[in-house]
Amino acid sequence: MTTTATKNAIQLTVNAEGVAVLTLDTPGRMNVLSPEVFQELSDTFEELKTRSDVRALVIESGKADSFVAGADVRFLATITTPEEGAAMSRAAQGVFNRLEELPFPTVTSIHGVCLGGGLEMALASSYRLVSEDDRSQLGLPEVQIGLLPGAGGTQRLPRLIGLPAALDMILTAKRVRPRAAKKLGLVDEVVPAEVLPQRARAAALELAGRHGMAHENREGRQKTLASRLMEAFGARSILYTQARAELRKKAGDHYPAPYKALDSAMASRKSLAEGLEVEARLFGELAAGMVSKNLIHIFNLTTALKSDSGLPKGSDAKARPVKKLAVLGGGLMGSGIATVYADKGLPVNVKDRNDEALGKTLHYAWKVFDKKVSRRRMRAFERDLRMARIRPTTDYSGFKRVDMVIEAVFEDINLKHTVLKEVEAVCGPDTIFASNTSSLPITEIARGASRPENVIGMHFFSPVEKMPLVEVIVHPGTADWVTATTVEAGKLLGKQVIVVNDGVGFYTSRVLAPFINEAVRVLWEGAAIDQIDNALKDFGFPVGPLMLQDEVGLDVATKVMKIMMEAFPQRFSAPDGWQKVIDDGRLGKKSQKGFYRYSGKSKDPDPTFYDLLPGGRKRQRMDVDEIQQRCVMAFLNEAVLCLEENVLRSARDGDAGAIFGLGFPPFLGGPFRYMDQLGIDRVVERLEILSERFGPRFEPAQLLKTMKAEKRKFSTD
Ligand SMILES: NC(=O)c1ccc[n+]([C@@H]2O[C@H](COP(=O)([O-])OP(=O)(O)OC[C@H]3O[C@@H](n4cnc5c(N)ncnc54)[C@H](O)[C@@H]3O)[C@@H](O)[C@H]2O)c1
Repeated sequence: MTTTATKNAIQLTVNAEGVAVLTLDTPGRMNVLSPEVFQELSDTFEELKTRSDVRALVIESGKADSFVAGADVRFLATITTPEEGAAMSRAAQGVFNRLEELPFPTVTSIHGVCLGGGLEMALASSYRLVSEDDRSQLGLPEVQIGLLPGAGGTQRLPRLIGLPAALDMILTAKRVRPRAAKKLGLVDEVVPAEVLPQRARAAALELAGRHGMAHENREGRQKTLASRLMEAFGARSILYTQARAELRKKAGDHYPAPYKALDSAMASRKSLAEGLEVEARLFGELAAGMVSKNLIHIFNLTTALKSDSGLPKGSDAKARPVKKLAVLGGGLMGSGIATVYADKGLPVNVKDRNDEALGKTLHYAWKVFDKKVSRRRMRAFERDLRMARIRPTTDYSGFKRVDMVIEAVFEDINLKHTVLKEVEAVCGPDTIFASNTSSLPITEIARGASRPENVIGMHFFSPVEKMPLVEVIVHPGTADWVTATTVEAGKLLGKQVIVVNDGVGFYTSRVLAPFINEAVRVLWEGAAIDQIDNALKDFGFPVGPLMLQDEVGLDVATKVMKIMMEAFPQRFSAPDGWQKVIDDGRLGKKSQKGFYRYSGKSKDPDPTFYDLLPGGRKRQRMDVDEIQQRCVMAFLNEAVLCLEENVLRSARDGDAGAIFGLGFPPFLGGPFRYMDQLGIDRVVERLEILSERFGPRFEPAQLLKTMKAEKRKFSTD
């Protein structure tokens, strides 16, 4: 065997039988494709074209458990004009065209994730093998960062597996597992991981024996039978119309990438060269746009959070293992928390006041797991195994040896004090007490504790199994190892974890409160329930502020708001007559009665709600922009106050917390990034106008005024 070239990321060897093996091993944890790697690939393919001793090529990864994770987002973020983006796409396409045009068979051997550019490279080769392994997943996730597969993916994938299946992969960014990939025709063979390298080499030789195979394949790809049938029956245009309608429902108007990806894939009926040109142009337009930049910002901040221990600079405290857990209070939140930890393999004791409450906890977990069973994402025995990990109890038996107690009893400071004392009496000195309170300061909860250093906030969001954020709240006396351990306990669930300093409502409840408060004021001033919610949904929030309160529970929202009103009376106040709403038994979805009606499938505003308001059922149309401005600017200003008061450690955490915990529109990149893009002077100006019209609650935060004067930005990159 001869090693003919060793570059930074690529090693090329040729064996005695003439099989060249290109091993991709970019410096770092995973293989990512940067312009430098593309250049190395290009040079290697050029060299191979001229080699008379090579009969076939195998492309494989030098990493133990991944193939290629995709393009290097750092360079994608530098694209500023559509022309620059298109040129970058053309360059990448050119490299894979070179691979496709090699005069011998080319085999891609895939073990582990094969995403984005990795899959586009595989598509340009003549044969694909994948290991039968859970880690092996194939996909084109570009739309998730506001782009489309710009290295030939939108052209070669439809040619290979047909337009409907290709659109399903490209528009939803879904990952395909080995067996499904074989079924789709995306790969040619699925083999055990242990024999993958040998089998890839053998396949290469077999293909080399069948001379001309690679070219036959390419011709075949140009027009599959399915695509010919599609043309004949005009099915393409029907598919296009359907796909667009579906996108409009799911992606709305704020995300251009899936629409352009669809247009690009439709161009696969043209010649490859023409189709690639359409792809490059559309890629360029997306890459230069703000939405893609903002989505890349989110991708970057999630990557940064993954490696953030949450500890203050200079602290080298280590997280301790959390192997056994207890949850106090098995209501809505406690049930969700117990479910997600049981899912990850941890035994969880759940204590509540009586068997009836505990029955509901088990029912919650069962529903979550059983849904997975019915969707074939989990086997029945795996569900049963998880259920067996949840141990319901009405006393503290089994608490002695737990590493962490997550408290989720009612939002009542006296009750929290009582249970904290009980926990301290039964648990060991190293048991962490993590409160899931949504608004009570952790310092208050820790007051009177015999081990305040073990007390911390761990704020989950509902529904726990779906919401991706955990907000960890430290009070001045929290021990660093407790912080590190709690952060790890959140990451163990695959959640994004931000660490904030203590304060009423911390960060997330604090910024949500004025947003909701303003929506309620607008309602009291005469707007209709659905007009308010639709205005904020049009802005980009997944649910409107009134529907959100129905989901959370109006009783819970009222308690939180009361706490906020006491702490910040200058900004928060309940409208006159709010108590009538609660007295009317309107607790939201859980009582089937809130802002909305919950009879049958209908989710219409409940007209009887208006009977409790000053204007009664006669509603007036308010200016949509004004509704959005009032709610959103109140949110933004409060976020800045959190940073000013050092509740937030960074603007980056503020963006992550708002997007992952509160559904702040991702295409705007988060509240701080959005303010940077609006311009700080404009933010201040808008707040001043609102303050003049609606009162001092809109008074711009001092930090904003200072930043305006100093022409500074939050610079969240
Ligand atoms: N609902 C939300 O969306 C949400 C989100 C984040 C945080 N939180 C916070 O989580 C906590 C729980 O909220 P929830 O919505 O799950 O409330 P919930 O009313 O659904 O559940 C509270 C549970 O605590 C139990 N409980 C009361 N006293 C107890 C005791 N002494 N020992 C054991 N169990 C006891 C109750 O029986 C009940 O099952 C609150 O602090 C709330 O502010 C709620």
